[in-house]
Amino acid sequence: MSLLENLNWRYATKKYDPTKKVSQEDVDKIVEAARLAPTSSGLQQFRVIVVSNQELKEQMVPIAWEQQIMADASHVLVFAAWDRYTEERIDTIYNRTTDERGLPRGRFGSYTDKLKAAYLPQTAEENFVHTARQSYIGFALAIAQAAELKVDCTPVEGFTSEELDELLGLKEKGLKSVTLLPIGYRDNENDWLAPMKKVRNAKEDFVLEY
Ligand SMILES: Cc1cc2nc3c(=O)[nH]c(=O)nc-3n(C[C@H](O)[C@H](O)[C@H](O)COP(=O)(O)O)c2cc1C
Repeated sequence: MSLLENLNWRYATKKYDPTKKVSQEDVDKIVEAARLAPTSSGLQQFRVIVVSNQELKEQMVPIAWEQQIMADASHVLVFAAWDRYTEERIDTIYNRTTDERGLPRGRFGSYTDKLKAAYLPQTAEENFVHTARQSYIGFALAIAQAAELKVDCTPVEGFTSEELDELLGLKEKGLKSVTLLPIGYRDNENDWLAPMKKVRNAKEDFVLEY
């Protein structure tokens, strides 16, 4: 199936079959699509936490505003972004880039100086607005990869991030949760949304041609 056919196939699954588990191979591919996401200045400002532990998934139900999909999905992927930029974070990725490309460290020094001058004077909240945006790129690619594998998923913003960060100990890692992606297999019989038409703006309303 083509990418567009897969995007038409997928929908925000409301009811999962709790007996069906996504294979490790497919979980790895979905995470890999997120890892390969482009990010602003290549800083890779987000991480993916893979939750398969049933007890943890159940604890996520009240945090996710009673959405039972947390417990019934096979896995929940948590997209979490840096809580702020630091000099070390910027240097670490650029040192890795120069090392892996066989370039001298500091090759991108004038560029990283510009990044530090732009981001480090900002508040943590301003930084997080930018880092969180990057995580949505990986989030979207993971959704598309899941569709290609015929794995169902639900993009979720309906949760209290502070509570989830506490549950998963993300603050200590300098991360804040942004979105969740339960993945699994639809319960076709009991999901009210499964047979519904996909509704989108008409192309002529969506595209503005100049
Ligand atoms: C960022 C984001 C957050 C969303 N949060 C939720 C959510 O918390 N719960 C839910 O059931 N659906 C959630 N959705 C699903 C949307 O409602 C759904 O994608 C949209 O209505 C389009 O339908 P479709 O995905 O089935 O094509 C979210 C979607 C996105 C992109």
